[in-house]
Amino acid sequence: MDTLEAIRTRRSVRKYLDRPVEPEKLQAVLEAVRMAPSWANMQCWRFVVVQDPQARARISELSHVEEYFAAGSYKTNPARKGLAQAPVVIVACADPERSGNVRDEHYYMTDIGIAAQTLMLAAHAVGLGSVFVGVFNERGLSELLGIPAGIRVVGLFPLGYPLDAGKAGPPRKALDEIVSYETWKGSGGPRG
Ligand SMILES: Cc1cc2nc3c(=O)[nH]c(=O)nc-3n(C[C@H](O)[C@H](O)[C@H](O)COP(=O)(O)O)c2cc1C
Repeated sequence: MDTLEAIRTRRSVRKYLDRPVEPEKLQAVLEAVRMAPSWANMQCWRFVVVQDPQARARISELSHVEEYFAAGSYKTNPARKGLAQAPVVIVACADPERSGNVRDEHYYMTDIGIAAQTLMLAAHAVGLGSVFVGVFNERGLSELLGIPAGIRVVGLFPLGYPLDAGKAGPPRKALDEIVSYETWKGSGGPRG
């Protein structure tokens, strides 16, 4: 699969087959993530690979954040079941002290964002699926996995064989809605 095809056909996967992930495939995904670009190549990230079924079940529970879902249109995290179903969950953590901090922006989030897309594309390229899970109880996760104070948990990534591979994802805005040339065109931002 070439890069553009992988980018075009990747989808968030939230339902998984009861099929183990081969160690070589897990290794290939982790090796790809290792190559992601980061602020000044500081590689602020640490990835905790969780395969224990009880720990995954607990991670799945921790993806339900009552205050968040009570206010929104979803009753619970759409990825909740998938976190328990997938044979592997990769927990992406970052040390904010090991990334850029300019204009009051913390670039560890960007570093992990890039690593996340690398992870998801690599997974897709080897026939696996994943999804970025950004809503979770961070304190609960840190306690569960022994993540030290000061290290932030940024994303959870279930990894496994997709139940319904090839399913269409949600649509994207047209290019002329999101791109202008030479100067900003239009009145508002994406919400305007
Ligand atoms: C930063 C970030 C956080 C996300 N958090 C969640 C989440 O908590 N639960 C979930 O089911 N999907 C989550 N998603 C997945 C998005 O809903 C999904 O990428 C988007 O709807 C586009 O669908 P696609 O990935 O299939 O193209 C997240 C995606 C990003 C980039």
